[in-house]
Amino acid sequence: MLGLVAMVIFLQGCTSRPTETTVNREDPMHVRSEALKRLLNVFGIEDPPHSLHHVKQPPQYMIDLYNTVAGADGVTKDPDLLEGNTVRSFFDKVHSDQMYFLFNLSTVTKNEKILTAELHLFKLKPRPTETAYFKRHHFCQISVYLVLDKKKMQLPEGRKMLSSKLVPMHSSGWEVFSITQAVRAWNDESHNHGILVTVRNLGGGQADTNIIRFASGKDHHESKQPMLVLFTDDGRRGVVSMSNQPDGLPFAISNEHYAPTPNRTRTARALQEDGHTSCQRHPLYVDFEEIGWSGWIISPRGYNAYHCKGSCPFPLGQNMRPTNHATVQSIINALKLTQGVNSPCCVPDKLFTINLLYFDDDENVVLKQYDDMVAGSCGCH
Ligand SMILES: *[C@@H]1O[C@H](CO)[C@@H](O)[C@H](O)[C@H]1NC(C)=O
Ligand SMILES: *[C@@H]1O[C@H](CO)[C@@H](O)[C@H](O)[C@H]1NC(C)=O
Repeated sequence: MLGLVAMVIFLQGCTSRPTETTVNREDPMHVRSEALKRLLNVFGIEDPPHSLHHVKQPPQYMIDLYNTVAGADGVTKDPDLLEGNTVRSFFDKVHSDQMYFLFNLSTVTKNEKILTAELHLFKLKPRPTETAYFKRHHFCQISVYLVLDKKKMQLPEGRKMLSSKLVPMHSSGWEVFSITQAVRAWNDESHNHGILVTVRNLGGGQADTNIIRFASGKDHHESKQPMLVLFTDDGRRGVVSMSNQPDGLPFAISNEHYAPTPNRTRTARALQEDGHTSCQRHPLYVDFEEIGWSGWIISPRGYNAYHCKGSCPFPLGQNMRPTNHATVQSIINALKLTQGVNSPCCVPDKLFTINLLYFDDDENVVLKQYDDMVAGSCGCH
């Protein structure tokens, strides 16, 4: 916990003071709650989810998706895998016997841009007794409709086709339908009248629903529940990637021109031997269990954010990954040309994205990516 507070303070930078003084540093409980509030803010969450019952297992699809985009430490493996930075899953709320589904999307925030929405249905194996039926029919047509008027949803005017496809009668497993249009139409909750699914024979007749069956939220294992998966982007981005300066010295300035006096060199070395190591990356494990968030964060259990510590003594070598600006500042500082110029700061100069898989307030499972969470390397800036 102390490490966490230290991290929040540390983020303020190596020379500037925190601008806000609302944190009463005398009262540790106040510091703790203020620090946790700010950390939640970093994760884009207003209140930590409460009243989680957690009988539910996270959907396997979301776990697989998390494992595809994130490594064991939560760090993004391939930034191009997801178009946006948020994936939300929703379970059907009505558990109707007809193929009618209602999803409550109230947890989607206003600033989230809807990229894609999918309906995931688990098709069950047909009962083996119905072999005569399969001699006549090999495929069925599954159609997904946006319901415009629930009372008329069985009629053409009460619904609008979203997607349709042919599926082999005998198949079993997940079928995925695009319903992006529907979710965009539901920007106002009052417009959400649900989704209707119909199954027809190729002849056009209604297929026997005793034969073509889908898992429902009511009668089947929760791992096969109908699910809506929503891919969005909340527009939150980290600092636009820091310039990838080629290592080394800029234009005409070369450290040799400003060779330090032997004394100063000795002093710098002595300092380093005293334990003031030069700028480098050190571990900083953020443990969600310790913070008290392990109840709603599914993965990872914590992550190594790393932190940058150490001096940026003159002359800055290439291993310090200095910016041109830092090199000049270091020189001015060493020459004492101007009063009050500090030596450059040891800060992260490459930051990685992490992924969180968590339960939101409505017990939906969300996968979210956060930019600039892990220090990839440190440099003198
Ligand atoms: C959707 O969920 C929210 C929060 O859980 C709830 O306040 C709201 O009444 C729900 N809407 C419907 C239509 O059930
Ligand atoms: C080194 O510093 C000492 C005082 O600390 C000074 O007397 C001496 O002249 C300096 N030597 C050089 C080479 O600058």
